[in-house]
Amino acid sequence: MLIVVHGGIYVEEIPEISDALKKACSAGHEFLMQKEAVDAVEEAVKVLEDDPRLDAGTGSYPNLLGEIEMSASIMKDDLSCGGVAAIKNIKNPISVARGVMEQTKHVLLVGEGANLFAKLLGFEPYNPMAELTVTTLRKAIEIAENEKNSIYHYYLERARLRLQTLQLGTVGSVAIDSKKQKAAATSTGGIEMQLPGRVGDSPLIGLGNFAGEWGAVSMTGAGEGIIKLGLARKIADWMEEMDAQSAVDRGMALAKKNNVVCGAIALSLREEIGIGNNGGKISFAYWKDGMQEPHSYKNNQ
Ligand code: GLY
Repeated sequence: MLIVVHGGIYVEEIPEISDALKKACSAGHEFLMQKEAVDAVEEAVKVLEDDPRLDAGTGSYPNLLGEIEMSASIMKDDLSCGGVAAIKNIKNPISVARGVMEQTKHVLLVGEGANLFAKLLGFEPYNPMAELTVTTLRKAIEIAENEKNSIYHYYLERARLRLQTLQLGTVGSVAIDSKKQKAAATSTGGIEMQLPGRVGDSPLIGLGNFAGEWGAVSMTGAGEGIIKLGLARKIADWMEEMDAQSAVDRGMALAKKNNVVCGAIALSLREEIGIGNNGGKISFAYWKDGMQEPHSYKNNQ
């Protein structure tokens, strides 16, 4: 049994973020001991979605209209999967994605349709705008009042301030259970200054998230580039012939060659771990058999 979680790529040190990742990893591990890999990754991602410092669920980046549109997907290695994109006013998009997987014949629901589906499933309305986000927006508005010449100045200043708040990126988890079943889950609030309606890689099966015969992968980073390269599926398939770290390294090299800044966590059927990024740092934690508590690391490749 093994579970890995990530809190995305970041450019500045985040105080105590290792603890947050360990908390998510521990929550997922508890489920892994009693249930299946899919339960573990959903639980781990829910904990990460609830952390206001991370760009998923509570704390997601608002779009250029100041609204939060979130996306998430979940997948099992028997190819069952589900996702939601541009969903609003939901606490845990990953759980709605699981609903799509288990209660529909579809793979992806978007926008109003995703929200209607969540409502029918009994998910309560919830405002994911975090206090940190509100503070940042207020600062940006002050700046915008002094810089009336260009509307873009408003957005650019806001983006700069957002970076200073030390927020992280997309979150995700991969796990393998005692029956060797694998699962992957990924959740995001998108990217800064995204246009309303923009959808990145995270809810798209095979692009930002994938679980299959050879392994499970969750991506973070520049969604447009990850989509074009189809990275999650490629990394998962490469694990047929190479270990998880080599597959992730190959994915990061391909991304770098194409000027795509991203990161990935992966695990293989053989229970190897692969973690990598080609810009900034990626925060992660894992818990595998024999360990008494999760280990958390930040690498800087
Ligand atoms: N990787 C998340 C996004 O691009 O939306």
